[in-house]
Amino acid sequence: TTRVLTGITPSGTPHLGNYVGAIRPAIAASRAQEIESFFFLADLHSLIKSQEPERTQRSTLEIAASWLACGLDPDKVWFYRQSDIPETTELMWFLTVVAGKGILNRAHAYKAAVDKNREEQLDDDAGVTAGLFMYPVLMAADILIFNADKVPVGRDQIQHIEMARDFAQRFNHIYGKEYFTLPEVVIDEQVATLAGLDGRKMSKSYHNTIPLFAPREELKKLVFSIVTDSRAPGEPKDTEGSALFQMYQAFATAEQTAAFAAAFAAGIGWGEAKQQLFERIDGELAPLRERYNALMAEPEKIEAILRRRGQQLREQFAIPLLKELRHAVGLRDLS
Ligand code: TYM
Repeated sequence: TTRVLTGITPSGTPHLGNYVGAIRPAIAASRAQEIESFFFLADLHSLIKSQEPERTQRSTLEIAASWLACGLDPDKVWFYRQSDIPETTELMWFLTVVAGKGILNRAHAYKAAVDKNREEQLDDDAGVTAGLFMYPVLMAADILIFNADKVPVGRDQIQHIEMARDFAQRFNHIYGKEYFTLPEVVIDEQVATLAGLDGRKMSKSYHNTIPLFAPREELKKLVFSIVTDSRAPGEPKDTEGSALFQMYQAFATAEQTAAFAAAFAAGIGWGEAKQQLFERIDGELAPLRERYNALMAEPEKIEAILRRRGQQLREQFAIPLLKELRHAVGLRDLS
């Protein structure tokens, strides 16, 4: 069997980009035969950005409920919280001591912070925590602790998977055994990056997101606020570079998309196009939204699932692996 693993950082409410780029493809893939799936809530990663305890907790719960509402079966796939597997942070240290600092200097998130500081003529590392710098090493530990074969993610995460391969390779090489499988990145070419309301990548940091379970009326309002050009009804519209068209595609079959493209060429008005997009999205999400609201009313059920699965994962994989690794690097066994 192939092990497929992916994580989502619980910082804020999940949005359509997370759904299209991660949740939906991961759940669809988890239903295939010969696949062992690992989905987790990267709550340790969320501490890098948010140091508000209530928010971290709330958002972990919301994201857990989202995955469950989207059809994840917690008895068939491994569904857990990163922080419930403390062996991950121990593994992170073993990777830290083999990871090249130069590689981490090139990580997108860190580089973006440095570039921003330079623009504002501040010190390169002003306000940058070591946590942000080490982000890719923690992520590598998430992947390697369960020896994942495949990691489905959005494009923004490709570099991190490459780093995980690099650290794994170095560790294997130094300690002389294939302790770690080299993970492969999996990108859904169709809709690798969903655009947000303003046409840029949908992202919490751009404030251009559509929350996954926004109530119907709010969803409608947001869809109608997607930026379009100023072409009038009757004028042909470009599908190329249209956030609206791309979003439609993410929620439609190939035939529906072809019909929508034809309507663009025939000069559909933006209002009508938005109405059609809204109905497509709402059609797919309405039943999920209902399940989500039901789950959020019983958080203790979600908590019980996460705890049970986390404990099983530790016993079956994480504790035995760390025992082996401690031995490999020359540390004493804890047991
Ligand atoms: P995060 O929480 O930023 O995003 C979760 C997943 O959603 C994808 N994504 C998108 N895909 C398409 N269009 C978008 N607009 C969009 N926005 C986000 C992301 O690429 C990601 O796949 N570091 C990770 C979480 C993580 C992880 C891991 C993932 C921690 N450890 C190990 C895989 C393996 C993150 O912050 O994703």
